[in-house]
Amino acid sequence: MTERSPRETRRPAGLVAALTSAIAVAVIGTAAIGTASEDVVAERQNDMKLIAASAKTMAEMFKSPGTYASAAFRQAAQSISTRADRRLADHFSKVTVSEGSKAAETIAGDPERFAALAKDLKTYADALAVAAESHPGEMTDDMRMKQGEAMGGGPLGTRLRDETQLSKMSAEHAFHLMLQTCTTCHARFRKE
Ligand code: HEC
Repeated sequence: MTERSPRETRRPAGLVAALTSAIAVAVIGTAAIGTASEDVVAERQNDMKLIAASAKTMAEMFKSPGTYASAAFRQAAQSISTRADRRLADHFSKVTVSEGSKAAETIAGDPERFAALAKDLKTYADALAVAAESHPGEMTDDMRMKQGEAMGGGPLGTRLRDETQLSKMSAEHAFHLMLQTCTTCHARFRKE
């Protein structure tokens, strides 16, 4: 950036340019002094937003199976999968409670359970990605909730115990259990 002569800045165009560069400097300066904890909070919140958007994409396809598209469904599942497990847990391992964050102290008190829920999220998302791969065409009935698969599921806090069960359950059931994982984690580890 070059220094502007006083004559130049007196002209309106020069003033605009000077203001623009002043703003640019201010923005860059703020980014540079932004703390690492602000960065991690922004990043994890952004991840959560993307996780929620992907879950919504899948929810809409289950609601209107005619709109099902295998590639989009799979992409949504993978978007959740990559943001779950270790990446999710790591986002809260160094910085938990922080200004502008709804993360609760309980995370630091029980990191194993937090990490286990983050892993469950990935397990369900991966199962949904596999279901999309094996259903390249339509959302056939076998993807839908079967009779006997409880909608509500177990009590709050129930974790996936047997992963082999997952291969037998319908995609829709896995999806509902995935949403329960969100709810369980938020209930324990996120402030109102
Ligand atoms: C392992 C725990 C855990 C799981 C699983 C989890 N979340 Fe979260 N989520 C959190 C925590 C903690 C926060 C608060 C983050 C913060 O403010 O720093 C959060 C925040 C959010 C937010 C608010 C983001 C923002 O704008 O600040 C949304 C939306 C969200 N989660 C959706 C979901 C959805 C949908 C799922 C499941 C598909 C899910 N979450 C699974 C722990 C979890």
